[in-house]
Amino acid sequence: MKMKVGFVGCGGFSTGTHIPNVAKNPGLEIRAFCDLNTALIQKLKDEYHPVYVTTEMGKIFSDPEIDMVVCATKPDFRMPIMKLAVKHNKHLFVEKPLCYTNDDIEPMLKLIRSSSIKFMVGFNRPYSPMMQDIKPLYKKHKKGNTTIVYRIVGEARMWPKHHYDSIIHNKESTIIHEITHIFDLLNWLTDSFPQKVYTAGEGNTDNVITLSYPDNITAVIIAGDNSCAGYPKERIEINTDYNTIIGENFTEVSLYTDNGEEFHKIYDYSIARNKHHDEIRQVILNGCEWRKSVTPDELKYGYYYERMPKVDKGHYNEIDYFREVILEDSYPDTDVLKGAVASLTALKAIESWEKGVPLDTDFSFLEKL
Ligand SMILES: NC(=O)c1ccc[n+]([C@@H]2O[C@H](COP(=O)([O-])OP(=O)(O)OC[C@H]3O[C@@H](n4cnc5c(N)ncnc54)[C@H](O)[C@@H]3O)[C@@H](O)[C@H]2O)c1
Repeated sequence: MKMKVGFVGCGGFSTGTHIPNVAKNPGLEIRAFCDLNTALIQKLKDEYHPVYVTTEMGKIFSDPEIDMVVCATKPDFRMPIMKLAVKHNKHLFVEKPLCYTNDDIEPMLKLIRSSSIKFMVGFNRPYSPMMQDIKPLYKKHKKGNTTIVYRIVGEARMWPKHHYDSIIHNKESTIIHEITHIFDLLNWLTDSFPQKVYTAGEGNTDNVITLSYPDNITAVIIAGDNSCAGYPKERIEINTDYNTIIGENFTEVSLYTDNGEEFHKIYDYSIARNKHHDEIRQVILNGCEWRKSVTPDELKYGYYYERMPKVDKGHYNEIDYFREVILEDSYPDTDVLKGAVASLTALKAIESWEKGVPLDTDFSFLEKL
């Protein structure tokens, strides 16, 4: 039987990603949309034909037919949603980051741990096909000193206005808005949490963040928004025991050893819903072609899901994984603790930038809460 899904917060990201992904998942069925924007939910109603739409999130949580709620409000509005989910015993998927402030962490951990609901934070990258291949390659070859370089550099001018205002004018750093993704990814890859963090750069958007992990692992994140969006935003390079693993843009992985190239794989991506399968050079050229063609109207809207090259960063898989967790009554990997650690790491990274010094990180207190 299909699991019924209710959405709370149906803005740009949910409309472009979670809603179409749930709609095409054979194990899931859209039951209801909730958003404060009535024009938006009317549009979604016409397109997806849910049983109802509402502006009252309480209706979603008290609906006995709903098995899973997907929440994609902004991170300053999470706690009331989490409380309702616990009160009504509804399984809840919340978008990243878990929260903005230190003050939220302890109550959130206690709330979720005191309940029996399944709860997952939307850090999708570990669920991407490319990262699913990289982790076993890394585990097989990891020995001695390991250095990891992660590039995540976009183009700030292309963001939706509300996001641009939050980051550029209100100085809500991308370290908490976006780089939490990479903290979570590195924690997942290394099966550990960082012990030290140091941030140099401009503090808000363009930074270099160094993380020291146990077992002689050092990671550097080049995080910025001063690049051209036509060029692929993300790339990972792992060096360990005289081996190098390169992951390009979720579309290509190579492992180089003293025997030459030992592993090479290309992953599908899509442009305007058409499937593509290319070497990275062609992916870059297609990205540049798309960037040249972006219209003033698209720039005004600030979301590009229809025409931009879309790589598989694990968004479909993470929701499907959460469905399985509920079905099999198992425990989700990307849990409230992982969400809390990513947010706390971001807050420490910002503090490190402010103070201009490396800072120790210790998350053991979270285990005891
Ligand atoms: N995982 C990813 O790759 C990824 C990518 C982009 C955004 N995100 C995350 O998704 C979240 C949403 O981002 P967005 O860009 O879609 O923002 P958005 O502002 O477009 O959407 C948020 C929506 O929540 C609605 N909302 C606010 N309060 C509500 C309430 N009380 N009840 C019902 N609806 C309410 C708003 O009306 C809005 O439509 C953020 O946490 C963001 O970080 C994740």
